Amino acid sequence: MPIDVYATAGAIEKDLRGHACVIVDVLRATSVIITAIEHGCKSVIPVAEVEDAAIMARQLGGERVLLCGERGGVMIPGFNLSNSPLEYTEEVIAGRSLVMSTTNGTRAILRAGGSEAVFMGGFLNARAVAEAALSVSDSIAIVCAGTDGRYSLDDVLCSGAIISRILDINGKQSLCDLGRTALALYDSYNDDLFESLRGSLHFERLRALGFEEDIRYCLQEDVMQAVPEYKNGVIRKRRPQAAQTAE
Ligand code: MLT
Repeated sequence: MPIDVYATAGAIEKDLRGHACVIVDVLRATSVIITAIEHGCKSVIPVAEVEDAAIMARQLGGERVLLCGERGGVMIPGFNLSNSPLEYTEEVIAGRSLVMSTTNGTRAILRAGGSEAVFMGGFLNARAVAEAALSVSDSIAIVCAGTDGRYSLDDVLCSGAIISRILDINGKQSLCDLGRTALALYDSYNDDLFESLRGSLHFERLRALGFEEDIRYCLQEDVMQAVPEYKNGVIRKRRPQAAQTAE
């Protein structure tokens, strides 16, 4: 089966049952979730609307729940954390449950539910998420969150990074046309991802808001092992295969 890449969640045109699905919102939702899980947060509950987040947090109750996310790239009034991965330190989030709503990222996650497995991918965990996806199925769909319903260069470049890791492990995987494009872009830009994104829509939006440090953080490759997995409405750390088969 080819690796399918979707430029946005809205571009998914087929049933993804049986697929291992990797959601990519490099700037910044999936990078935030990978960081949060790596730093020991208990779970992340993605919700589409800000109002739903507040209701969900009330239902979960207790002071161990944090409301997180953004609208327009900045902190939502009344929330605890914004969508900056630098805020998600171990001291702040270890052992906590996060209810998260972002403009594009959390919506893409919700759209992909129903696949065999749904993982969060980014440059931070490119190799680890490639290994996790291949361990589930060789039918792999990479779903880019995009920006406001449009293709986003940062997500497509990251898809190329994940594809390069998948091909390192299993060179026999074939690629859809966008997958081939993503890989070619990644191969030609990976010596300086930051410079290659200069001028692109979401990159410039975040820079204008003062988030250059966030961008540099999200473009680090293979520095984390955590593979967040979305199942039954909740994102948790994927457990090693051996632990799952022992159940
Ligand atoms: C989103 O989900 O739209 C993004 O993560 C926005 C952002 O960079 O904060």
